[in-house]
Amino acid sequence: MWVGAIRMPAGSKRTRALITGASGQDGAYLAELLLAKGYAVHAFVRRTSAGPAEHLLRHLDGPPGHEERFVLHHGDMTDSASLMRVLAAARPVEVYNLAAQSHVGVSFDAPEATADTDALGVVRLLEAVRALGLGEGCSIYQASTSELFGASPPPQDETTPFRPCSPYAAAKVCAYWMSVTYREAHGLHVSNGIAFNHESPLRGDSFVTRKVTRAAARIAAGSLEVLRLGNLDAARDWAHARDVVEGMWRMLQQPAPSDYVLATGEAHSVRSFVDRAFDAAGLSLHWEGGGADEVGVEPRSGRVLVGVDPALFRPRETNAMRGDAGKARRELGWTPRTGLDGLVADMVRADLAAVRAAPARGAVPA
Ligand code: GDD
Repeated sequence: MWVGAIRMPAGSKRTRALITGASGQDGAYLAELLLAKGYAVHAFVRRTSAGPAEHLLRHLDGPPGHEERFVLHHGDMTDSASLMRVLAAARPVEVYNLAAQSHVGVSFDAPEATADTDALGVVRLLEAVRALGLGEGCSIYQASTSELFGASPPPQDETTPFRPCSPYAAAKVCAYWMSVTYREAHGLHVSNGIAFNHESPLRGDSFVTRKVTRAAARIAAGSLEVLRLGNLDAARDWAHARDVVEGMWRMLQQPAPSDYVLATGEAHSVRSFVDRAFDAAGLSLHWEGGGADEVGVEPRSGRVLVGVDPALFRPRETNAMRGDAGKARRELGWTPRTGLDGLVADMVRADLAAVRAAPARGAVPA
């Protein structure tokens, strides 16, 4: 295993990229994309007692010489010294800042930690780039989010006012403007990718799509009775994460930095996502009742398969998200390739396979 030590061969021609938050879903797809393009990838992750994510371990194994193409670094966005150390060692020409406390619901319970990582973490990163004199010839991607728009009605594009509705979104607004400030004041090549929701079989299981697809697979296999959800009416613009990381990469290939919405242009409710996922798992549902009493019932047996748990409602909600990615289409030539049905099919297929492989593993998180 090659952890934290850099030994790039003298004169190596590989483009060096640093991905912060590389253990998450987007880090996985982005590392795969960059490795396929011949990059040397430096992954910056927090050490956890569970060890590196499975997909990182996969990249660490490879033929001789491979260790120079994928290097794992441990550090933390709340620790300036670790950022300085990894930037000084990797000297990346592309930096993808994906590290964040990314759960909107959790941010209401841990606002300070969220702001520390998601807002101040970005300041630490940008300052480290500047202090090390890496600015020239280094492009930076800041993972901004549709949550910036919050209460602004859809469709949302780069001109839509920010009206954040959570500590997470407020911290990300700060990070967005810090990125713009460093671009305009210090000439850094920083681009904000304003990504709408994006999902995949690698999505963390506390986010609604993965919670639903895992539960659908487990209900179909008979190892779960009922799925409990919060707000079924919230509408999201769900893309495939693989498509979104392609947009991130395209942004950093532009001669000039800018800010881009990455979205499909379609919005669907949580309820409609549940319908599709259950259908893909071979289950049918009809809905009865409303509000906290709404249930999804299997018509044949009358069994309740989905219920509402008011504890899962957020103190404040962004109800309607639908992005207009016209600018990314025109300037980056980016369009999402996978539609919602393809995304659901990909996720449910993976979760059905996982349930068959290990029927008793893992509960469905709240
Ligand atoms: N997580 C979760 N769990 N959400 C639920 C549930 C539940 O049981 N029931 C209903 N929802 C609703 C949430 O209230 C929200 O309106 C919607 O489902 C989506 O929730 P999440 O999947 O947690 O995603 P998010 O939209 O809050 O935020 C995600 O997308 C943003 C935009 O890309 C996160 O990935 C953010 O980090 C990201 O910025």
